Amino acid sequence: MCGIVGYIGHRQAYPIILKGLKRLEYRGYDSAGIALYDGKTIKLSKTKGKVADLQDKLENEISTEGTIGIGHTRWATHGVPNDVNSHPHYSNSGDLVIIHNGIIENYDALKTELKKRGYTFTSDTDTEVLVNLIEEVKTKENVKLGKAVQLALNQTIGAYAIAVFDKNKPDEIIVARLGSPLAIGVGEDEFFIASDASPFIEYTNNAIYLEDGEMAIVRRGKEVKVRKIKDDTSVDPYLQELQLNLEQIEKGGYDHFMLKEIYEQPNAISDTFRGRMRVDEGIIKMAGVDDNLTKLLNAKRIVIVACGTSWHAGLVAEYIFEELVRLPVEVEYASEFRYRNPVIHQDDVIIAISQSGETADTMAAIKLAKEKGAFVFGVCNVVGSSISRETHAGAYTHAGPEIGVASTKAFTTQITVLALIALKLAESKGTIPKSDFHYYLQELERIPEKVKISLQSAAHVKSIAETYKEAKNFLYLGRGFNFPVALEGALKLKEISYIHAEGYPAAEMKHGPIALIDEQMPVVVIATKKGHYDKIVSNIQEIKSRQGKIIAVVTEGDVTVKELADHVIEIPETEEFLTPLLTTIPLQILSYYIAVMLGKNVDQPRNLAKSVTVE
Ligand code: F6R
Repeated sequence: MCGIVGYIGHRQAYPIILKGLKRLEYRGYDSAGIALYDGKTIKLSKTKGKVADLQDKLENEISTEGTIGIGHTRWATHGVPNDVNSHPHYSNSGDLVIIHNGIIENYDALKTELKKRGYTFTSDTDTEVLVNLIEEVKTKENVKLGKAVQLALNQTIGAYAIAVFDKNKPDEIIVARLGSPLAIGVGEDEFFIASDASPFIEYTNNAIYLEDGEMAIVRRGKEVKVRKIKDDTSVDPYLQELQLNLEQIEKGGYDHFMLKEIYEQPNAISDTFRGRMRVDEGIIKMAGVDDNLTKLLNAKRIVIVACGTSWHAGLVAEYIFEELVRLPVEVEYASEFRYRNPVIHQDDVIIAISQSGETADTMAAIKLAKEKGAFVFGVCNVVGSSISRETHAGAYTHAGPEIGVASTKAFTTQITVLALIALKLAESKGTIPKSDFHYYLQELERIPEKVKISLQSAAHVKSIAETYKEAKNFLYLGRGFNFPVALEGALKLKEISYIHAEGYPAAEMKHGPIALIDEQMPVVVIATKKGHYDKIVSNIQEIKSRQGKIIAVVTEGDVTVKELADHVIEIPETEEFLTPLLTTIPLQILSYYIAVMLGKNVDQPRNLAKSVTVE
């Protein structure tokens, strides 16, 4: 949660760090700060608020000179978002300065010890405890900063990505990671430090991603030295060439990243199946699946673990796998699974889904499943992310960077990957006829075009948003493959517009939620042709007779629902198991416009962060 940026080299650090923080704001945006070293002293400025607020304050407060510096954009864990709790934090002597992403769980005990030794604290943060612990170790053991960081981190319990420097040794920054991501961009006589590569992609595409439990000494004009935090053994750093480009991480003319990402879905879905699905030859080739085919085919059960939107993609996958592969599937919230002592057998396959590849609960669920001997397959978007490295095998979604906090293209590309896997297994097992398999591949290939057609309803959806933007509650209903889409539609609306919304299986309505329906209640119903259409029509009639307002997502050419509903949004016809890829589009657009009309910050909704690296 929190984004960290650092620079050491021959350029002015401030503009690089500032721009980097803006790019990382999706990770947290309740406060921000920067510390710079100008050859004589450390200058530090920080504030509650966004990076733009920091820029206003900082440029009036300190000089921006300096070729070494660190910056932070925060998502509060310990201590409310205010100026004092913002990072960077000084040590008591004022010599050391630190930024930190993560949580030091035993900070209270460490703080008590440090207080006994005369240390004082101005903030409520665990980070200020950590920087003083490093200072205490450095002084007491009379060691260099790198060694002090290593010894101090061995006394901590928790998660971190940190960057720290010492004003008395201003040619190096020490970084370390455990549970939170950290990349080092390697340029010509200069280094960039960041939570992901976006802050430095225009300067270099060479990067070292630290592994969990590693630290690095980043020294101006020298090679990066990587060491294990546990025992100080040295590690050969792996220099990776990045595929990311600048255009991918900018808004490209759209008002918001979320809108850009909604419109990117046709390409994102094509990119996800391109090279894997060969329609003419009638084959699906996916390295992670092919290399582990026996394991996957022999699985007695699939358990999917994920959080939030990725969990909804998992629910869609449950329907798809059961339908096509005839395999039992359970879908678990990673946060529940990890603390439940779940029953896992050796012939279970766990599929972990995560856009960021950094979600702490999903990561913990994976580790637990591995301990119990299960084979874990990852579906991640961020290449090289912690989850993609922790899983035994996996398949990336190729959605490209998703910056808007509300997940859109990650959801549809996750469903695409999971559908490809299900089709591949179904074909290998013979649970679907060959002719169906070929037809499904052709139909999946047509989906990007059909998403484009679904996007054409945007203006109409916008007018529906105008009508209902003041509603206090929304209900979303769907059945079968589209029940998870109802959940996802409700989640999208609540997270960016702060309107209360509930998603339900349509038939469950009569077991309680129907009591909520009156003329004030907009009900979004996914009522596509296939998938228990008649039953959905009955549900719509039940809503109508209680004066609920019906916004129905229907298959083009629909007649019956059109007569009953207050508004209909048409999507093209497709195979039932692929409908979530289309029905979700108008629901994303509806949430987007309602939030924009209400003046909400669509890309950075309150209290949220893109990457939830704390539990
Ligand atoms: C909702 C949203 C979150 C994430 C969840 C899991 O729009 O973005 O619910 O889906 O935090 O994140 P990942 O997929 O990165 O593990």
